[in-house]
Amino acid sequence: MQRPRRRRRTEALRRLVREHELSPGDLIQPIFVVHGQGVEREIDSMPGVCHLSVDQSLDREVDRVEALGIPAVILFGLPAAKDDGGTENFAEDGIVQRALRRLRARSSDLLLITDVCCCEYTSHGHCGVLRGESVDNDATLEVLSRVAVSHARAGADIVAPSGMMDGMVAAIRSGLDADGHQDLAILSYAVKYASGFYGPFREAAGSAPSFGDRRQYQMDPANLREGLLEAALDEAEGADLLMVKPALAYLDVVRAVRERTHLPLLAYNVSGEYAMLKAAARLGWVDERRLVLEALTGMRRAGADAINTYHAKDAAAWLAEEGRR
Ligand code: PBG
Repeated sequence: MQRPRRRRRTEALRRLVREHELSPGDLIQPIFVVHGQGVEREIDSMPGVCHLSVDQSLDREVDRVEALGIPAVILFGLPAAKDDGGTENFAEDGIVQRALRRLRARSSDLLLITDVCCCEYTSHGHCGVLRGESVDNDATLEVLSRVAVSHARAGADIVAPSGMMDGMVAAIRSGLDADGHQDLAILSYAVKYASGFYGPFREAAGSAPSFGDRRQYQMDPANLREGLLEAALDEAEGADLLMVKPALAYLDVVRAVRERTHLPLLAYNVSGEYAMLKAAARLGWVDERRLVLEALTGMRRAGADAINTYHAKDAAAWLAEEGRR
């Protein structure tokens, strides 16, 4: 008789036959930067995640991330003021540009990724330039390219467009190349759904749309084939890495994209996924550590090479502890 249980008898055996590993090197920690001084303000619906000012507050966070062996952060900025065109998004002294300069000056090899989108910067909260009640795709491409170039000049290693505009990767690539940034990589949020799981992020970034929703540019959660098309288009436009977002309810999409591309693939374990686990753990209903490591391992098993997650620091610390055992 075949007895698979023989291989589960001891931890050493289980380790030997383990198919997928999760390590701190697979994780990216999101960071929210804000104007002001000495700010370290926890976000209500995201316990453990803070708004940080670009000073010692940011330095301390990045020190923690690096000490845990996490190779990358992704920066989101809250501007001082929002306007129709979202002008701080590409301002030389914009909040993300300031954060990049400060972190670059530390001369560490931490990877600095930036989210390239308009919704945090525009007064209407949509991900692009409005024409009437709808986002003007091609006018938005010019803005995205300008934002990416300003991030590149401030020291970004990777720019990550997240607005689901058609042609965004090609537009950003040509903008970067024209400004001499041929070596700067593009991580495309290629397959991004119009999801209720972004709720806490929109509180954190003050980026909820003032009218309507994002269904005219983000994808319908019911569609898989369309996601494969989106991934293929972004690859053809020159994306260097692809991402699927959200993660937990979309692991079939991660798997399907994985099977069709040779590019590195990331999953974005989004704010609502984080908030759900945190809330249940706070109520004492689940074992947070176990669930977080299980969920992240599931994303790796589904085919994600790396994971963008608010759990990154906790997970890296737990993994280090297990490694010492
Ligand atoms: C910007 C952007 C969003 C997220 C990442 N980049 C919000 C949105 O699309 O509404 C969401 C991340 C999260 O929920 O953790 N467009």
